[in-house]
Amino acid sequence: MMIQSKKTIRIAVIPGDGIGPEVVAEGLKVLSAASNKFGVGLETIMYDIGGERYLRTGETLPRSVLAELQMMDAIYFGAIGHPQVPPGVLERGILIRLRLELDLYVNLRPVKLYSGVECPLKGKGPEHIDFVVLRENTEDVYAVDGSVFAQHTSREVALQPALYTRSGTERIIRFAFTYAKERARKRGKIGKVTLVDKANVLTVGHGLYRRVFEEVAAQFPDVATETLYVDVAAMEFVLHPERFDVIVTTNLFGDILTDLGAALMGGLGVAPSGNVHPGRVSVFEPVHGSAPDIAGKGLACPIAAILTAALMMDHLGLADVGSAIENAVAGALASGKIRSFQAGQMGLSTQQVGDLIAGLV
Ligand code: IPM
Ligand code: MN
Repeated sequence: MMIQSKKTIRIAVIPGDGIGPEVVAEGLKVLSAASNKFGVGLETIMYDIGGERYLRTGETLPRSVLAELQMMDAIYFGAIGHPQVPPGVLERGILIRLRLELDLYVNLRPVKLYSGVECPLKGKGPEHIDFVVLRENTEDVYAVDGSVFAQHTSREVALQPALYTRSGTERIIRFAFTYAKERARKRGKIGKVTLVDKANVLTVGHGLYRRVFEEVAAQFPDVATETLYVDVAAMEFVLHPERFDVIVTTNLFGDILTDLGAALMGGLGVAPSGNVHPGRVSVFEPVHGSAPDIAGKGLACPIAAILTAALMMDHLGLADVGSAIENAVAGALASGKIRSFQAGQMGLSTQQVGDLIAGLV
């Protein structure tokens, strides 16, 4: 995307539900400090999307809003999920719909333990936990509605299929190799891609993944490869996280593994993510949800949202701005001023954490 030559970038902001608005406010605070520093203009356009709007109007993501979002440079997203809305309505109607409609086929989730953050794993530190999960983001069980027969009877049958296409499989795997190669170049190390699947049981869908993985790997002879079954991978996250560099996996497994990954890096309060289609309008959101129980009290950790803004700037080709944000976060974490990332145990409020980081940009 040729954003560099533009004076101003236009960001659609969807604060959403629960703690979304308060963490997004801090993300924007740090983002504007970093953008100012590099002379990048920032135009933010707020969108009222989420549980409240749904309860008020019955709308999730109106076509007209989607059309406007498609005209932006990027979309900055807080969280959705509302206690009065049944599970699935907002998730499928807003977040998954955005991923599918904008064809955001990569869910990029770095798992990185920063210095100064306590790791839940005994004997592991920042040198052991630094990898990236690339989760396929447009297929699998997320892309099929499923069907039910004889509902509410004793003969009830529920079908919840998964869908995998060759093109969808190939593009995420190719992205993973390209990403690993570039990451290895920056770090001066040999890159490695680990495919995580369940090809021993899902022989059809994940058999496709295995075949395509081999084909693509052959085109990247300088990148090391391995394959792991998802159950083993879950164990290895905890026992030997240092073995991972770049993980490529399917949508549902990536969902599960990245919450585990978030735990390794200090908790959901610090885990960022990007829903990305290279060169296109993409959506950036913290891994965490809306946490309605602690909303509006200044208890939520905004670091995930702040690091998410850094990913967004990287995607827009503004790596200087992204690095400035990440370095400010790293500085705040190393300072020891933030006691914990668990809600309410930070020793600082949401706003104070935002101020601390913005001051270090
Ligand atoms: C995530 C979330 C979503 C997912 C939900 C809210 C639909 O858990 O982004 O990881 O399952 O992808
Ligand atoms: Mn999830």
